[in-house]
Amino acid sequence: MRLPGVRRLLEGLLFHSRIMRPDDANIAGNVHGGTILKMIEEAGAIISTRHCNSQAGDKCVAALARVERTDFLSPMCIGEVGHVSAEISYTSRHSVEVQVNVMAENILTGAKRVTNRAALWYVPLSLANVGRITEVPPIQYEKPEQEEEGKKRYENQKLERFETKYRNDEYIAPVVNPEPYTVGYSQSSLIHLVGPSDCTLLGYVHGGVTMKLMDEVAGIVAARHCKTNIVTASVDAINFHRKIQKGCIITVSGRMTFTSNKSMEIEVFVDADTLVGDTQERYRAVSAFFTYVSLNKDAKPLPVPQLVLETEEEKKRFEEGKGRYLQTKAKRQMSAQSLTQQ
Ligand code: COA
Repeated sequence: MRLPGVRRLLEGLLFHSRIMRPDDANIAGNVHGGTILKMIEEAGAIISTRHCNSQAGDKCVAALARVERTDFLSPMCIGEVGHVSAEISYTSRHSVEVQVNVMAENILTGAKRVTNRAALWYVPLSLANVGRITEVPPIQYEKPEQEEEGKKRYENQKLERFETKYRNDEYIAPVVNPEPYTVGYSQSSLIHLVGPSDCTLLGYVHGGVTMKLMDEVAGIVAARHCKTNIVTASVDAINFHRKIQKGCIITVSGRMTFTSNKSMEIEVFVDADTLVGDTQERYRAVSAFFTYVSLNKDAKPLPVPQLVLETEEEKKRFEEGKGRYLQTKAKRQMSAQSLTQQ
């Protein structure tokens, strides 16, 4: 017999483990950031869909609406086991916040380390009518402060996503015979036909599939620029503005916006083309900034070639990228300081 408390605990948590295989990794054996993002998103989608269907009423599927900024703290390697744990940390009327932790375990030595911590927001869409957002059953908090802190995170992300909503009108034009280290030299695109295996029960693309493709393109841009082993260091907050339906063609495009001494910022756009149906349109579904680092054979960061800027627009984007870089660097230093003071 299972105790009621244990049952509640099991329902609120999700654990998933799997061994990392060669097709999860780059040629140097480091697991792609996109593979990890996909695992994170799968855990979040399962736990939030399960929670949103835990009361009688309309059945629904939780769609990924937002991923908060995510740092890749340590590379995961082929042969290691990735452990993903997910927990619901806050619910608003129509959204669910899920905290996910990822650990890498070397099963030969037993050594474990944290590789990622991510926070994702899901919104439940009705199975009967995908345009309808259903209500989220509230969770029970152990302490009132947990609810207050969750509410603060909810209000902050709401504010942030309204501020950044439509940076979405730009397209990446092809460049003929680009000079080395210019933006055109490394910019890349990938075209993908959305099939059933990419989609949820509702017939719309899983957020994890999209993030994996985005990371793939960002990785190609970084590798074309510096021609070394590159890894994902972080992903800025991503908002999923619009659904992408089965049968759409998606174009995932990436361009370098900024280089520091040892890191590269790449902006990635996902544009969807609806081919079949009554309305044919092309729209921007997602955009995000990925940061990559180039590693030597001992996994130590290498200096990267500096981006050569040719146009006023590129200079403007570079300065904006520099602002983001300095801001996140200052935050990292502050949190490292507060850890050493504890
Ligand atoms: N991040 C977090 N929460 C979000 C969000 C975002 N980017 N966009 C909307 N929400 C939340 C709102 O806070 C609201 O919850 P609340 O009432 O408790 O505050 C709820 O979603 C509904 O917001 P609303 O403004 O009514 O809905 P919308 O018209 O903006 O639609 C989505 C929201 C998520 C359904 C819509 O943006 C969408 O379909 N996005 C794509 C989802 C998807 O397909 N994901 C995988 C992409 S590959």
